[in-house]
Amino acid sequence: MLEQALGQLEKQLILSRTALLNTASLFREHMDKGLSGHESSLRMLPSHLGRPSGDENGIYLGLDLGGSHARVSLIKLDGNGRLEELCRQKQALVDSESGHDYRAESVTAEELFDFLAGLVQEVLTNPDTNPKLTTEVFLSRPIPLGFAFSFPFRQRKIDEGILLKWDKEVRTSGVVGKDVGQLLSAALQRRELHKLVKPAAIMNDTTATFLSAAYQDPGVDMASIIGTGHNTCYLERTAEKYPVSMIVNTESGNFSVAPRTEYDLRLDRESDNPGEQRFEKMLSGKYLGEIWRQISLDFSARGLLNPSEFPATWDRPYAVSGKDLAWVAAGNLSTGLQRIAQLLIKRSAQLVAAGLIGNIWHQDPRLAVRHTVAIDGSVYLEMPDYAPELRMALQEGLETKVNMVTVKAVKGGTLSGAVIAVAMVTSR
Ligand code: GLC
Repeated sequence: MLEQALGQLEKQLILSRTALLNTASLFREHMDKGLSGHESSLRMLPSHLGRPSGDENGIYLGLDLGGSHARVSLIKLDGNGRLEELCRQKQALVDSESGHDYRAESVTAEELFDFLAGLVQEVLTNPDTNPKLTTEVFLSRPIPLGFAFSFPFRQRKIDEGILLKWDKEVRTSGVVGKDVGQLLSAALQRRELHKLVKPAAIMNDTTATFLSAAYQDPGVDMASIIGTGHNTCYLERTAEKYPVSMIVNTESGNFSVAPRTEYDLRLDRESDNPGEQRFEKMLSGKYLGEIWRQISLDFSARGLLNPSEFPATWDRPYAVSGKDLAWVAAGNLSTGLQRIAQLLIKRSAQLVAAGLIGNIWHQDPRLAVRHTVAIDGSVYLEMPDYAPELRMALQEGLETKVNMVTVKAVKGGTLSGAVIAVAMVTSR
């Protein structure tokens, strides 16, 4: 009975080669449409940044705001692809002691950005920061700051970022439709830090990952995040569209036409933002645990699995995190539950591969040149078997041409990418 049900589930979840290629073609179509300004689920947002030379140098601040943490770092770029981190501060958006949640709707934009400016101040006043470098930095103030902002935003210039919508369950009031560059500048001013620090570049986290990988490896032409959320950017070389090659943020998490199961439809319906971020909801860390929970509950209700197997706390929606899922996939519960986890991981890798193949076809339909995709994010780096599954799915789609594609794991490149962007724009 269980075997049969798992077999059926596999048929529902796992993409055949035809379905994988079809999804890749649709992805490419949505990229083309989004780029030419037509209705598309892919926003194709220009970053105003190209490829770094690797020679960028100087001392800059990086700020990174994601769905769960904010980090600030003072980084020294030495050129030749080398850099040194001088000081770093990291804070969860939910305070572990007070439980205060900067992502909540009851929190104002001012409160969130005051918190970020506070982190910047902590880095600047940190006694661990090498005093000599501090003098050097202080003499050349204001220190330009690069802001990696892991949400979809539009920008007409590099130091602007108008938030289109929040996702990953962040709901802070008064930010959507506003320029996060201005919000940050105002908060720095409230702390009297404006003469010391100047926001100079804002970029998506995928763009920052691209820059940090390309600083060391000039072959990088795509970057993906497969973590709490999912997104991909790439180097658009189409001369008619932009005067120079430019990194474009596809916002691939919002891709809307991958084949969905009943479970995906239900998760989307019951989520905070129905109809949005459909691709992300099928494959990223924020949601994989919840899909697994739903399927497991369904199997239990059908008498196929024993519900007493999983912790009582897992009764609540979103109680199963990406980490929990990795634990299940590694074989810590029964094989039935493990198989469900493995199928979801495999499908996630297939979907990401379909998006990457569609992206490569857009850039280079015959796969005539080599492509390197830099990937960061907890799902890619920490989920058991994820990286080999992704490779296998790329191979299934591209067959022998898979040799033209290199996947490069990158860990925590966001802050260094943010400062590389600053070095690029301040030397323009
Ligand atoms: C979400 C955001 C996107 C970000 C991704 C990864 O999909 O919309 O901007 O890059 O998460 O953090």
